[in-house]
Amino acid sequence: MQSDNIPTIGYSGRLTSYLSAFRFFKHARRIFQNGYDLYPTEMFKVPTMSKWQFVVGGGQLVEDLKKAGEEVSFHQGVVESGRFDYTIKSNIENSVYHLKVIRTKLVSFGPYCDDIHDECAAALQDLIPVKAGGWTGVPLWNTLQMLMARVSNRVFVGLPLCRDQGYLELCIGFAGNFMAAARLINLAPKFLHPIIGPLLSPYEQHRKSIAKYLGPIIKERLEMKEEHGTEWEGKPDDLVSWLVDEAQGIDAEVENLGMRILFVSFAAVHTTSMVMSHVLFDLAARPEYIEHLRQEAKEVTEAEGWSKSAIAKLYKIDSFIHESARYSGLGGVSMIRKIGDPNGFKFSNGITLPYGASVSVISDAMHHDATFYPDPYTFDGFRFYKIGKADLDQGNDTEFHVKHAFASLSTNWLLWGLGKHACPGRFFSAHEIRAAVAYILLNFDIKLEGGKRPENQWIAYTCLPDVNAHLLFKKRHSHENGKL
Ligand code: HEM
Repeated sequence: MQSDNIPTIGYSGRLTSYLSAFRFFKHARRIFQNGYDLYPTEMFKVPTMSKWQFVVGGGQLVEDLKKAGEEVSFHQGVVESGRFDYTIKSNIENSVYHLKVIRTKLVSFGPYCDDIHDECAAALQDLIPVKAGGWTGVPLWNTLQMLMARVSNRVFVGLPLCRDQGYLELCIGFAGNFMAAARLINLAPKFLHPIIGPLLSPYEQHRKSIAKYLGPIIKERLEMKEEHGTEWEGKPDDLVSWLVDEAQGIDAEVENLGMRILFVSFAAVHTTSMVMSHVLFDLAARPEYIEHLRQEAKEVTEAEGWSKSAIAKLYKIDSFIHESARYSGLGGVSMIRKIGDPNGFKFSNGITLPYGASVSVISDAMHHDATFYPDPYTFDGFRFYKIGKADLDQGNDTEFHVKHAFASLSTNWLLWGLGKHACPGRFFSAHEIRAAVAYILLNFDIKLEGGKRPENQWIAYTCLPDVNAHLLFKKRHSHENGKL
């Protein structure tokens, strides 16, 4: 079967498909849901302004993508949708040596857990002004981006830079700036890209700014490496050193290293802040969970502190985060890939997608499929805790984490993607979110402003929390475990 015969959700005519592509901006969630309802284990296509988006519904076709090698390219998919050729450059489109570093250091992140806790406490003290005995309204999205940028960058670049306002604003602004530029470039006809690409791209500005903050630090580390190799006394244990140790040739140029740190920081901060925003809105909207989760946080941290193994025991908090991310999620599809084989890619059902086609796997609709998640439109914060409790009762903590935890992977849980490109930062991220939620529960009461959970906003593929909404915080005084 050829790709032309794959069913379309919406119009498929040369001109009429643009009408559907226009609708896609606002109604992508409904369009993906229609596709999944009609073709839950097959493939459908959706017109967007720049291309056909082929979408795999589930079942064996997901396994095909999971098993595929670079003939179905993750890298080309990301590079193309983010227009790295204009927006990021810095050899990131050709070399992914940062993955080796993330897969080791950010999986065995135990040594950095005290810093993560310390930065979380210090950041919340700065970000949430305490009014004597009263509630304070805080713009949640901005606050959480700053919190997650500080916590992650405590590990990436250390003190004092992880608290520098200008550096943090650069890290946070980077995501919005380059993604907006990429969207505009992709909207324009191809022949205009070489002209408008450099004009719209924030690349030069980002490169200059990151060199200002990180240039001298990177330069010094490179000089020390030149003089002493990769082992020297007093060498900071952070992302800058890990990357400097690995970088070769063009990757070891100061500005390229700086841009790579900015890029890793983007990968870590943006998604984590999105998930964390949904979690706090969901918690405030369902106050009946708060005491249960606070009790768990109190028991675990009083007994074991804030280490990696302690935070891994926050099973109920993990379940709540997992449910919140299932319920709201990041968007309509996951595992965005581009067919990289000139001969196309043949799925096990005989369909062949041609070279250059963009394909992804349905996620939001699958995360609301009653086959996998009974009563899927009911928010059940203990859904995953209840499923995994049998394992926990038998003392099988590992089984819980592999099968039921927020950071787990499966063909029905696609928040992190699947296969060899599945998010390598997921364990680190899950730790950061669990630890931050526990810390907030122990040190603050939270409440919705106006009594209603702010609605999610869908823009094309993406589901965003309401980025303008406020959440109310009130300092608690009963707990001595925090540092406020
Ligand atoms: C809640 C937070 C996060 C979510 C939901 C998330 C989600 C994802 C997803 C969906 C992918 C693509 C997987 C695929 O297509 O198969 C991905 C890839 C990636 N993520 Fe995350 N991520 C998160 C946090 C992080 C963190 C903290 C880091 C740490 C630096 C990170 C680094 C990366 C990198 C480097 C890749 C590319 C992997 C590759 O090239 O093979 N992510 N992430």
